[in-house]
Amino acid sequence: MGKMTAPAVAAAKGTRRITVLTAYDYAAARLAEAAGIDVLLVGDSLAMVVLGHEDTLSVTMEEMLHHVRAVARGAEKALVVADMPFLSYQVSVAEAVANAGRFLKEGRAGAVKLEGGREVVPQVRAIVAAGIPVLGHVGLTPQHVAALGGFRVQSKTAEAAAKLLEDALALAEAGCFGVVLECIPGPVAARVTRALPVPTIGIGAGPDCDGQVLVFHDVLGLYDRLRPRFVKQYAELGQQAVEALTQYADAVRNLDFPGPEHTFPMDPEALAAFLA
Ligand code: KIV
Ligand code: NA
Repeated sequence: MGKMTAPAVAAAKGTRRITVLTAYDYAAARLAEAAGIDVLLVGDSLAMVVLGHEDTLSVTMEEMLHHVRAVARGAEKALVVADMPFLSYQVSVAEAVANAGRFLKEGRAGAVKLEGGREVVPQVRAIVAAGIPVLGHVGLTPQHVAALGGFRVQSKTAEAAAKLLEDALALAEAGCFGVVLECIPGPVAARVTRALPVPTIGIGAGPDCDGQVLVFHDVLGLYDRLRPRFVKQYAELGQQAVEALTQYADAVRNLDFPGPEHTFPMDPEALAAFLA
């Protein structure tokens, strides 16, 4: 498989499942590459799992760019998607295009993602027209946490589900190469997936999406502040890290580390001269 691109992701619909994982730095990108992940999303979840904020609202363009550059340096085949942070695309179409462009030009990402339905269609159209692939994101949109009143399942009523379907169709029509569906009932995601000409990427949206995305730290057990039901943890690296770090600290205190094998010797003559 060659380099993943946004058109290749779009073309995968109906042929194979698309694997997406968030990544925030070079080391994580290398690990995900080795695992054969298709798409690395530098999510604004960075705000929470890397920077320690309680929601995604306060991460800035500069902070996102810093991490997008690092992920791009570690990605070989995977498509790097940069998540547009809160207020980087809502204020005006012109600002949206300028900020999206920075993620390709300065960040070396291959695409951007932004949250919202019909209300962001003008931005999507303009960004796509500038040659920048866009991934949509509907359902639970964490940048709306203040308006939503918390992180909770969306589209539970027939009316809300119908609105979500219309929003997803509008995003595809505006040129999105895929749409993230977050935290909605499985049957709603299945219906949207059938209706859309482009892939759906689910998170908390059941098994019938065209692809799945999870947060790196959630998959590996590195973040314990929030544990949504839709997360499946595949390793306990956080616990293993604490055990390893405890051993290291104990070894330093007990004088077990460093040993002779970790210590650079000195030529005896040079040493004698130095000590004389
Ligand atoms: O920021 C993020 O990690 C995301 C994914 C969970 C879709 O937007
Ligand atoms: Na996000």
